[in-house]
Amino acid sequence: MGLELTGRARYLPLFMCGIVAYIGKKEAQPLLLDGLRRLEYRGYDSSGLAILNGSLHVSKKVGRISNLEECLSGAPLSGTIGISHTRWATHGEPNDTNAHPHLDNRKKLALVHNGVVENYQALKRKLVAAGHTFESETDTEILAHLVGSMYDSLPASTPHRLETALKLALKQVQGTYGVAVVHADEPDVLVGARRGSPLVLGIGQDEHFLASDVSAIVAHTQKVVYLKDFDLITLTGNSFTIKSITDKPSEFQISEVDYRTEDAELGSFPHFMLKEIFEQPTSIQNAVRGRLNAEEASAVLGGLNMSPQELREVERIVITACGTALHAGIVGEHIIESLAHIPVEIDFASEFRYRNCPMDRRTLVIVVSQSGETADTLGALREARRRGYRVLGICNNVGSTIARETDGGVYMHAGPEIGVAATKSFTSQVTIFALLGLLLGRMRFLSFTQGSEFIKGLEALPDQITKLLKQADKIRAIADKYKSVKSMLYFGRNVQYGVAMEGALKMKEISYIHAEGYPAAELKHGVIAMIDHHTPSIFIVPNDSLRNKNISTMQEVKARKGPIIAIATEGDEDVAAIADDTIFVPAAHECLLPILAVVPLQLFSYYTAVLLNRDVDKPRNLAKSVTVE
Ligand code: F6R
Repeated sequence: MGLELTGRARYLPLFMCGIVAYIGKKEAQPLLLDGLRRLEYRGYDSSGLAILNGSLHVSKKVGRISNLEECLSGAPLSGTIGISHTRWATHGEPNDTNAHPHLDNRKKLALVHNGVVENYQALKRKLVAAGHTFESETDTEILAHLVGSMYDSLPASTPHRLETALKLALKQVQGTYGVAVVHADEPDVLVGARRGSPLVLGIGQDEHFLASDVSAIVAHTQKVVYLKDFDLITLTGNSFTIKSITDKPSEFQISEVDYRTEDAELGSFPHFMLKEIFEQPTSIQNAVRGRLNAEEASAVLGGLNMSPQELREVERIVITACGTALHAGIVGEHIIESLAHIPVEIDFASEFRYRNCPMDRRTLVIVVSQSGETADTLGALREARRRGYRVLGICNNVGSTIARETDGGVYMHAGPEIGVAATKSFTSQVTIFALLGLLLGRMRFLSFTQGSEFIKGLEALPDQITKLLKQADKIRAIADKYKSVKSMLYFGRNVQYGVAMEGALKMKEISYIHAEGYPAAELKHGVIAMIDHHTPSIFIVPNDSLRNKNISTMQEVKARKGPIIAIATEGDEDVAAIADDTIFVPAAHECLLPILAVVPLQLFSYYTAVLLNRDVDKPRNLAKSVTVE
């Protein structure tokens, strides 16, 4: 975190999709298809590849990558240099024509692109006036034509002609890009560039890769360079150069990736989501490992890059994030306020950056992001840093843009999260907030005994979750009972409110059943109108300080014939007597309960979606990494 400050670049909206490119001695097609499969979570409405072998050979197909594979299975494309892409449609509907790669006017250059060319209409007008014709509705095709026409306008003797053409073209582009380009007249060269869309170079033995994230290439090399905005890269099989589009010198650092490919494979699980739910005992252990100091009853978070004095001086915290990460932040707000008595404010990252949130120099901003690439969160981070605030990050993806641009932070070490619905990242984020709360708390009001008790609670979590997961069959049966409902309501109070929000989001995004999360007492302020015998309410009602108040709210639902599913503390028969179905969670410190309470809700939404035959790992309209504003 904060190792490389690419810093203050103006935020621009970005788009999703995935790029994989290869140059070396091996057949490119199988490597590209394997990489695309691993990136499919970034977008999955169409895909395509271009292989250079004397001339360009292109194949593109709407739908999943399996469609492209099927199309190529009868007539594989041979060649040792190629580019490929999996798309999440922005400009133009998903179809074969709009899929990438796109070609230039002479059909000699192929280009794949993540991002958006904001001035594409002006560029298109110029190109049309110069006689170019276009086949697709995409801004990317315009970019391909622009690079192609630059290439054609340069004398054949121009050194690094393709690289120069790309640089000249990108100087005319307003917007964002991660691009990879090949040209039939340059059979041994692959060029790429990034601005606002991640791109990573993989360095192999006599081969190089370019990809949107490391998961696409780690099976082949662990040596990588995370490119920075404005980097311009030229690859041959055994060399690479990194320059800058801005003509300034560009520095880079070769890193070793700590990533096991088997972590990104299904193994015996039917879906990544289920695998990742079951990985939570380990991912929580990894979040905690080496970060507890029993002697001081505190936490050790060296990556914060803050002295004890600076940590003591924090007077206010603003947490900002999106989606599930925001829900973890809502839980984090309660944890930090409760353990450290520091006022915490939580805000949607998309709102924070456009809001004049008053802050003073003792305000600490924390951004939370599994991918480290979410555009809204990145925008908020850049806005906070522009205003001069210290920003910490809680990220999973090592080397991601957010991780690099923060002043410090804590890595989640949760391993790759492939399922589009976030699960283990939520519990890891909450665990890190618990560590932060402990650290800040021990500098303020938390006693040694309280700190020690809290540490014991953190250490108990992996075993408690393992035990909880044994209830999977029971939860599946409950899901079967309610799978046909149109709407569900989730209720939780205080620290459990974030869990209610997260439970509802999980249900919506993978089952497409309408679901909303509320602080339980809000029921009577309007939501109660929704209650009838077809609308289940899911109450997170552990044995905490608000249990009795929650029970009263449950009674209000029961009085109106609303079915209730309760998440209650083991042995709480009073709650079980009111609820129609009860899932028990082990007793724990109030601030750690959300980590346990969310697990049955993850399983409940998972099984509901499976029973409804939904595409659990790739729900409609979604992509894992939301790099669009
Ligand atoms: C929900 C989900 C999204 C993400 C959100 C932020 O299951 O996955 O709501 O949590 O898009 O993503 P990150 O954490 O990558 O910034």
